Amino acid sequence: MDPMLTIAVRAARAAGDLIVRYTDRIDSLTISSKGRNDFVSEVDRQAELEIVNVLRKAYPSHAFLAEEGGRHGLPKGEFTWVIDPLDGTTNFLHGFPHFAVSIALLHKGRIECGVIYDPMRQELFTAKRGAGATLQSRRLRVTPQKTFKGALLGTGFPFKDQRHNDAYFGMFRELMKDTAGIRRAGSAALDLAWVACGRLDGFWEIGLMPWDMAAGVLLILEAGGIVTDFEGGDKFLETGNILTANPRLHVLMEETIRPHVTDALRHRPLLSEKHDEKDRPGQQ
Ligand code: IPD
Ligand code: CA
Ligand code: CA
Repeated sequence: MDPMLTIAVRAARAAGDLIVRYTDRIDSLTISSKGRNDFVSEVDRQAELEIVNVLRKAYPSHAFLAEEGGRHGLPKGEFTWVIDPLDGTTNFLHGFPHFAVSIALLHKGRIECGVIYDPMRQELFTAKRGAGATLQSRRLRVTPQKTFKGALLGTGFPFKDQRHNDAYFGMFRELMKDTAGIRRAGSAALDLAWVACGRLDGFWEIGLMPWDMAAGVLLILEAGGIVTDFEGGDKFLETGNILTANPRLHVLMEETIRPHVTDALRHRPLLSEKHDEKDRPGQQ
């Protein structure tokens, strides 16, 4: 395995083990709110520290954009690790066993490696640019689903920022009409990993952050899928609006979603003010 990927896997497993150790002590955790419906616990913070410690030991000169560390903007430096130590915090805090650790490595802004680890199922997803994506060492491929009939889609509700509800539910209504079902499982990183491994045929969500998406995007690209913003462009890391599926289904999803895109959605800022540096302790 690529040396950087090996280190990322080590970091993801260490964080995943830590998270699992806390699953039977959730009631005793200190939980704070970062904003509307946006919670953070000491487990998120400890898991992030664990990851950063492993990565920094191996790569002391690399930069970090980690959710709980709060760096602002997409860094353009040589190497940057983009980390979500616990994707699906709300699930975790409710004992709903669906969450993951997500770690990606960017080189000059391009995603080179991605690791998503589901510690409850002990499923490890990895991707290396140009070398494919795997689940437990098995090569991944997106589904061949060509039509909405029979398709299973994933999504995330815009529960933190409800300004785009009309646009979102317009998309939802149309996509619900002809598909076999739509799932909202509560971990965007796992949603993307599940598109890459064919458990979902497609996925869309408004307002994700780079750490929710980076590793999953590479998994899907390496599994033969398409990832764009809602209008077929490449601004998903900037706008947080992501649309992904196999190439045939992606065309259909984009045609359905595009008419609901508003100017406000198109020009969503990269990182919202609540993720600004000044609000965050423990920057890395
Ligand atoms: C959240 C999850 C969720 C998505 C949210 C994310 P978090 O991440 O990925 O599925 O709908 O937009 O913020 O806060 O649990 O790391
Ligand atoms: Ca997240
Ligand atoms: Ca998180």
